[in-house]
Amino acid sequence: MIAKIKGTGSYVPENVLDNNALSKMMETNDEWIRERTGIARRHIAQGDDTVSMSTEAGKRALENANVKPEELDLIIVSTVSSNVVLPSTACEVQKNLGAVNATCYDMNAACTGFLFAYNTVQAYFYAGLFKKALIIGAETLSNIVDWTDRGTAILFGDGAGAAVLECVPGEMPPMVTHSDGSMGAALTCASPFATKEKEYVEMNGQDVFRFAVKKVPECIEELLEKGGLDRNKIDYFILHQANSRIVEGIAKRLKVDLSRFPMNLSEYGNTSSATIPILLDELNRQGTLKKGMKLIMAGFGAGLSWGASYLEWDI
Ligand code: UT7
Repeated sequence: MIAKIKGTGSYVPENVLDNNALSKMMETNDEWIRERTGIARRHIAQGDDTVSMSTEAGKRALENANVKPEELDLIIVSTVSSNVVLPSTACEVQKNLGAVNATCYDMNAACTGFLFAYNTVQAYFYAGLFKKALIIGAETLSNIVDWTDRGTAILFGDGAGAAVLECVPGEMPPMVTHSDGSMGAALTCASPFATKEKEYVEMNGQDVFRFAVKKVPECIEELLEKGGLDRNKIDYFILHQANSRIVEGIAKRLKVDLSRFPMNLSEYGNTSSATIPILLDELNRQGTLKKGMKLIMAGFGAGLSWGASYLEWDI
């Protein structure tokens, strides 16, 4: 038995901060941000938070899958920007949705988190432990971004995406996951509970950029090899939305046409673990994804961590 995505949902805050508004807050400009990142605007929480956005995205995914909250036996939320340390965002979502039969916990694998949550559910279902899961990637990064640092503030946004996974007969699809803690210093955020100060995301942008355009194509190649898959038969590559130049670099290294790498980062910026499920939900609701289509999801981020998974669309 394996997991298939049966419904998707997403939620982004109404409040939009575009590049021109940002350039009034710091020494930057619309042209630089668009050229170097592909980002035009991002949505910033005002009244929303990680729990409320997760709940709304989860509710929409359940409706899309036609699954009742009490049918869920597992909820995993991937986040690095929870409202509180305890209880977990997943338990708060359980309460809000009335998913009384679910086991709930959070996962921190930064921007790779949704992908790792997806893989975890695959393994659980394969082992026969759970049958219906809700996985959510949700971030209020605006709370941990240093709004005086133009190297990071221009990149990030807030939002949540979710998917309902159901257990169906089938062979375990290929997946590849990696972590390299020795490179962790490239992207960090200290804990305010340890330092007793307000802490923010700190990043060596060029190190993360180089890592992404090298390691992501390598791990997609590894996935293709592992699954005996032909890259020309993959309909879409659903990549973590960090920077359009990173996506372009990955497509080029893989020698795959960029048209098979959908992007929505101009609208949302980098919402960390929420980028992949928000993009999946948009493509699902637009009708771009059709039953039987072959997809590869790939994520990368702090840790450093990265990975890729193959799936066949089944909605
Ligand atoms: O989920 C993973 C999260 N992280 C990432 O995806 C980050 C990956 N890295 C990147 O996306 C890019 O490295 C950035 C977008 C962060 C930076 O782009 P870059 O092409 O690597 O720029 P840079 O840091 O090499 O800076 C080039 C120039 C510098 O000026 P000088 O020294 O050439 O005069 C910077 O000071 O651009 C300047 N600069 C800016 N100018 C206007 C840096 N940030 C800005 C800015 N606005 N926001």
